[in-house]
Amino acid sequence: MLIDSYDRVVDYLRVSVTERCNFRCQYCMPEKPFSWVPKENLLSFEELFEFMKIAIDEGVKKIRITGGEPLLREDLDKFIKMIYDYKPSVDLAMTTNAFLLKGTAQMLKDAGLQRINVSIDTLKPEVALAIAGKDVLKNVLEGVDEALKVGLKVKANMVPMKGMNADEIIDVLEYCKERNMSVRFIEYMENAHAKADISGMKSDELLEILRTKYSFEDNGFDGSSPSHYYTMDDGYKFGIIEPYEDDFCKKCNRIRLTAEGNLIPCLYFDEAMSIRESIRKGDIKGAALVLKEVVRTKPEKNRWGGEDGEISSRAFYETGG
Ligand code: 5AD
Ligand code: SF4
Repeated sequence: MLIDSYDRVVDYLRVSVTERCNFRCQYCMPEKPFSWVPKENLLSFEELFEFMKIAIDEGVKKIRITGGEPLLREDLDKFIKMIYDYKPSVDLAMTTNAFLLKGTAQMLKDAGLQRINVSIDTLKPEVALAIAGKDVLKNVLEGVDEALKVGLKVKANMVPMKGMNADEIIDVLEYCKERNMSVRFIEYMENAHAKADISGMKSDELLEILRTKYSFEDNGFDGSSPSHYYTMDDGYKFGIIEPYEDDFCKKCNRIRLTAEGNLIPCLYFDEAMSIRESIRKGDIKGAALVLKEVVRTKPEKNRWGGEDGEISSRAFYETGG
């Protein structure tokens, strides 16, 4: 079992398979980065799988595939199947922008994928165009429908931004509710790669809007999820992620691997260690030692909105959010 210095069990690994993306979401990557990671630095699926096996053997129970946009990487279903075949009981999930899900959802499900998280920031085509820098809404919604049809569990993420999609909070919630998908509103997290003038909405502002139409009960945190949950009168649950809150890190159970093989103990923490060389040399013991060291050095708290108001220089498209 992997346990950090604050007694948190680390059993959740997020794996970014590419930092590339076909969207340019304002809060993540408004323009194409100056340079992408050179192809030779990317770990192959075989190499990534070598590390997945180590992590699973050490106690990882949940693996989420992220990006960038993971579906841009060819043969992703084969990678999913490798993990599934190694240990079918691993909870296998993926975060995707859903643009390429139509036509791939069935294959992913058949390979062993169970759940996906998708961004649904708006239901208006022109707002989707403004947020993602591309006319994406039709494909995204069709992708979501297909995922539901093939039996994948779908959760939606919305980042509410003033003057952009803040007036659609109720509409997005109702869209998700009608489809029996849960929705989580994520407070905008400042980072050096986002468009400069974004004004995110805070949870109290969000709740005020939702209260104009619905009443709900506060259920607090649920397990190790970073989301604060609320239950509406009819039993529907929605979540709010408030990364700036004090208790956000208390139950954190996750670490992240980038497509280049950097293992990151915390999203908002610059330190990382690479497993690439050990994996490429076939040094399984060495890679396992790096994993244990990264878990050992996992910080107690993220450095968000610290006293000096530090802004993350780490790109969400590299770490998979
Ligand atoms: N703030 C909040 N959420 C973000 N995401 C990406 N960048 C940010 C940010 N700056 C979330 C989006 C997306 C997921 C991959 O990460 O909701 O669904
Ligand atoms: Fe948008 Fe996700 Fe792509 Fe970032 S990685 S630009 S949040 S779709």
